[in-house]
Amino acid sequence: MNHETLFSPARLGAIEVANRVAMAPLTRSRADTDGVQTPLAVTYYGQRASAGLIIAEATNISRQGRGYAYTPGIYTDAHVAAWKPVTDAVHEAGGKIVLQLWHVGRMSHASLQANGAAPVAPSAIQAGGNVFTEQGFLPPSTPRALATDEIPGLIEDYRHAAQRAKDAGFDGIEVHAANGYLLEQFLRDSTNHRDDRYGGPIENRARLILEVVEAVAGVWGADRVGLRLSPLSTAIGDTPLDSSPMQTHIYLARRLGELGIAYLHVVEGQLHGDKDAGDFDFQALRTAFGGAYIANNGYDRPTALEATASGRADMVAFGKAFIGNPDLVARLRQNRPLFDAPASAYFGGGAEGYTEFSLQKAA
Ligand SMILES: Cc1cc2nc3c(=O)[nH]c(=O)nc-3n(C[C@H](O)[C@H](O)[C@H](O)COP(=O)(O)O)c2cc1C
Repeated sequence: MNHETLFSPARLGAIEVANRVAMAPLTRSRADTDGVQTPLAVTYYGQRASAGLIIAEATNISRQGRGYAYTPGIYTDAHVAAWKPVTDAVHEAGGKIVLQLWHVGRMSHASLQANGAAPVAPSAIQAGGNVFTEQGFLPPSTPRALATDEIPGLIEDYRHAAQRAKDAGFDGIEVHAANGYLLEQFLRDSTNHRDDRYGGPIENRARLILEVVEAVAGVWGADRVGLRLSPLSTAIGDTPLDSSPMQTHIYLARRLGELGIAYLHVVEGQLHGDKDAGDFDFQALRTAFGGAYIANNGYDRPTALEATASGRADMVAFGKAFIGNPDLVARLRQNRPLFDAPASAYFGGGAEGYTEFSLQKAA
């Protein structure tokens, strides 16, 4: 096996990366109540700049898109001003960073919405699970179905956020169409019961994703737009699968390939579970797309070396491993042990468990 492949440069559309180790998007809930990043985020992302590509944490495209307290936004001047030093720090360290654009859809709570409004979704079906509010974890509120004539405004929110990400100095954007959030809610027939041009047959359920991609590609060029999918995951919102995951995702991947986007980023199997669980041909998905493929979910050194050396993936994204190992690329290269960061510091808090691990490492 050629161990060097994982550590060799690659190209995702117009984005050149120094190695094939990506940092997966990781919500850390350390922005302020208005979604403005603090200087800690500058340190945090700067520390991780040796990743070939940092996919910065899911970031709200609008107030309506928020589902979790203390998550960052990218729709006000203050958001842009706070992200700019983050992208500068990563670039000064020689890294690349794209921003994951997020609208949670029904995975929200009225307390996070303007004037306590109901969250929006393709259909008025309440999600399971919990969302993180300023009052702690609470079940998601019952959403209201978006009216057809609200969709252009929603697409405009994506376009606006994409422009603001450009203003903030990112190298591109990743459209979050995974993990039970708004765009995946439109894609799956389990969560989309609409009877307009955004519901029903797969061509309709994929329409919003494709229109969003076209809008943000108008800002960036398609070759700086990536997209994340999670065809088999039910983990967030206890979201039931689509009735035919292969057919649905193959159609979408083919259309995304025709649009010429930079990469497809896929959470294989069940998020926070087994990447090999379920019956799905991820290579067929990759072939249907035809462009660069970033594999994710439970990869370790041997499986990442294998995936890139065999050509099964162009890049592998690591999530949890990057939390406790800012120098993950060097550790993988030198086959050094990884530090397992405690989950208690994943969401919220300050420097400890984010940019520093002094307490845990000393313990
Ligand atoms: C603390 C934490 C926060 C996460 N936040 C996001 C996120 O903002 N966007 C996203 O698409 N996935 C998110 N995920 C999922 C990860 O990107 C990744 O898919 C998952 O951790 C599996 O990869 P891993 O086994 O390498 O950790 C998060 C996971 C964790 C543990």
